[in-house]
Amino acid sequence: MGITTKKFGKTYKGEEATLYILENKNGMKAVFSDFGAVLVQLWVPDRDGKLEDVVLGFDTLAEYEKNPTYFGSFIGRCGNRIAGAKFTINGQEYRVENNEKENCLHGGSVSYDKYMYEAETFVEEGAVSVEFSRLSPDMEQGFPGNLDITVTYTLTDENELAIEYLTVSDRDTIVNLTNHSYFNLAGHNSGSVLGQEGMIDADAFTATDKKMIPTGELTDVIGTPMDFRVRKPLSEGIESDYEAIRLGGGYDHNYALNVDGEDAQFVAELYDKKSGRLMEVYTDLPGVQIYSGNFLEAEVGKQGIVYRKRQGICFETQIYPDAINHENFPSPIVKKGQEYKTTTIYKFM
Ligand code: BGC
Repeated sequence: MGITTKKFGKTYKGEEATLYILENKNGMKAVFSDFGAVLVQLWVPDRDGKLEDVVLGFDTLAEYEKNPTYFGSFIGRCGNRIAGAKFTINGQEYRVENNEKENCLHGGSVSYDKYMYEAETFVEEGAVSVEFSRLSPDMEQGFPGNLDITVTYTLTDENELAIEYLTVSDRDTIVNLTNHSYFNLAGHNSGSVLGQEGMIDADAFTATDKKMIPTGELTDVIGTPMDFRVRKPLSEGIESDYEAIRLGGGYDHNYALNVDGEDAQFVAELYDKKSGRLMEVYTDLPGVQIYSGNFLEAEVGKQGIVYRKRQGICFETQIYPDAINHENFPSPIVKKGQEYKTTTIYKFM
């Protein structure tokens, strides 16, 4: 158990990047880079204790500087989509980057995974952590407010990877932070993830138009291929002729979780029968974007492995997409001086 570091090379701007390798008493390992505060590797034991790296990613810093698919990415200031790349706070309209046709995706083309962070490590009884912090200046990506950001990744001896986000702004702003890791419990190099099983504790999802912008309606999952209340293979229904599935090209939807917003609670799981690896997801956020890697096309990753369509699945815990433009959605507005504090835990068994 402990934390070690390793040089990760220089960014194109000449900054020295470092990898932080967190290890628990079971040999589970999580590797993060201070460039981007990204999750680079996650080594998880199977039922026989054999470790496998269960997240898609790259071997080099240069690849993380591009990373168009957001492997392991820390996403901000506002994850998911903002319709028309504009929103209004306190009567003032703000325009952000329309990096996905007319809409803004994940805060713009330069998301929070493209900046350097200050790092600090902590070793406690049963838990090791790395804390990344940075000041996102007023109007960066077009968002108001100097935002003080701290992301803390903790690996516990209970095989939990906990992510805590803490921010404070000096102006009213919007914040919606998430992690965009693509999981494949058989290993990042094992081909399609569709043979694995998923479960999501949600009775509804946010319906969208063709451009993946929420209509404002919540659609009941009952009787549809969107229903994951009981664990089932991801392959089941992913090719079905159901409108939402057609629009997403597979699963790419925000589930409205059955949560009370208090402490992080169990909301979803992913299971690989063959290896026996089980991942449970806990969060205090109201939504989770389930994205089944529908747009992955022959992306060359770690060890030259070619990642193909649906080789990994993301569980991006979040406030609903385009929430700023929907009064009936939980609000992403964070007032001046107010803390935005949320926790998501990926727990492995
Ligand atoms: C979105 C997908 C998008 C992907 C980018 C996900 O959060 O929901 O539509 O293609 O991010 O990698």
